[in-house]
Amino acid sequence: MGFLNDIEPLKQTALTELNAAPDLAALEQTKGSWIGPNGKFTTLMKQLGTLSKEEKPAAGKLINAAKIELEAALTSRREELELKAALPKEPTDFTLPGRRRALGKLHPLTQVTDDIVRAFRKIGFAVADGPEIEDEYHCFDALNTPADHPARDSQDTFYLAKTGNPQAAPPISQLLRTHTSSVQIRVMEKQAPPVRIIVPGRVYRRDNADATHNPTFHQIEGLYVDKNVTVGDLKGTVEFVFRELMGDDVKIRFRPHYFSYTEPSYEIDFTNALVKKMGKDWLEIAGCGMVHPQVFETVGYDPEVWTGWAFGFGIERIAMLRYGINDIRLFYENDVRFLKQF
Ligand code: DAH
Repeated sequence: MGFLNDIEPLKQTALTELNAAPDLAALEQTKGSWIGPNGKFTTLMKQLGTLSKEEKPAAGKLINAAKIELEAALTSRREELELKAALPKEPTDFTLPGRRRALGKLHPLTQVTDDIVRAFRKIGFAVADGPEIEDEYHCFDALNTPADHPARDSQDTFYLAKTGNPQAAPPISQLLRTHTSSVQIRVMEKQAPPVRIIVPGRVYRRDNADATHNPTFHQIEGLYVDKNVTVGDLKGTVEFVFRELMGDDVKIRFRPHYFSYTEPSYEIDFTNALVKKMGKDWLEIAGCGMVHPQVFETVGYDPEVWTGWAFGFGIERIAMLRYGINDIRLFYENDVRFLKQF
């Protein structure tokens, strides 16, 4: 019977052609010419209908088996060709040196912050955090700095548009925090004394960029509240941390100053061999003082029972001192030639 005898040789030719297809495009074309809608095999299958009842089952079985075989051959050839297409055209030279992926690094300011945090952790301080978009109350009023206080002038900042329904509640004045001191209030509002925290974070001020100022910079705040806390504790703590950071030849001195949330208040000056080399005797590095009783009243701590001190350092200042950098703007330009050095 002609029809049945045609199947096997047709299949063999198809298999040979599929396996010989040199690339994926050729393979698709070969596939079409055999089992596509007008393919030779498809045509053969269509002829099944013309066979007699007796012939049909055997022929159908044979054709189906052949078709399955063709499809398997197609898939395996396709996989082969896909693999071939994915492989490099040139043989790989395994003796060539490898390409090392460049590792990223922490920004120098992050490194310095981490070191400061590590030093404070050694003596039992925990890290606290607060929002950069702060309200006027936490940034100023609760720190004993009311709206008409002259100290606000030096800490001008961006104020955000007031939101909310003024009929329902007086609008809250929001701003970009000018210092991390606001977090002192947030922490004391939430927890009872004693308190021993540091707060690294970003702050904003209306400062023009020059070699030592930038409208955005970073601070570390510290707050220590307990019974019978003294300025001596404060000085000892600051000295310890700076020696950890900058070496044993560090000297610090306290100079009387004014902050509305501390009384007495001081500025901390710092010196070491590097400062001397820069032709200076001392560099101002931080503000600090004993927490003002009014601040304790505001957060609900009894000032007759609790005492405390607080400080705020500029992280950029410390980083500049540590690495001998004379322009603060280098920290923000993200020039890899600068960043690579740390
Ligand atoms: N907030 C001050 C500033 O940004 C620094 C400061 C001074 C923080 C005295 C304090 C402090 O906690 O007690 O200049």
